[in-house]
Amino acid sequence: MTTVKYALLALWLACALGAGASRAAGASLYERLGGESGVGAIADSLIDRVAADPKLGASFKDAKLDRIKRLLAEQICDLAGGPCHYSGDSMRQVHAGHHITQADFYGMVATLRAILKERGVGVSATNELLRLLAPMKRDVVEPSAGARR
Ligand code: HEM
Repeated sequence: MTTVKYALLALWLACALGAGASRAAGASLYERLGGESGVGAIADSLIDRVAADPKLGASFKDAKLDRIKRLLAEQICDLAGGPCHYSGDSMRQVHAGHHITQADFYGMVATLRAILKERGVGVSATNELLRLLAPMKRDVVEPSAGARR
């Protein structure tokens, strides 16, 4: 009987330790981006930098930067497994008419990559986030816009 008790205790311990270890290893992307404050800071820096960029900034001339920052943070939080639900307009609707080129899109991605690196976000978390954003390219970029720039 005692042997059975020890076996059960050992099993319970193994499960408890195992669960702890996998929880640590399996931190959500949202957590690895720095949670609410990290994601908020990433969105703020990204929009500040692209709006000030000589090439990318033109699109943001009349835009409400505070709204974009807030909704971008919410969108990243949602995509990355955080406790948010994106409440903005569809990517297609929002970007329509801004003549955004593929080069603009990649320019924004490069800026985001630089911000994540500066903030100490790891390569795998960076790539996970970029993989989640990549499918939006077809809704953000205007197919004919590349020809003009
Ligand atoms: C994956 C890439 C992108 C994401 C996730 C993204 C996300 C967003 C979000 C969440 C908004 C606010 C939505 C709303 O108002 O309901 C927004 C607005 C906007 N974005 Fe993007 N964006 C991306 C790429 C770009 C690029 C490459 C540009 C141009 C260089 C751009 C220019 C704008 C502009 C100008 C607005 C304001 C539109 C308006 O109010 O008329 N975005 N974006």
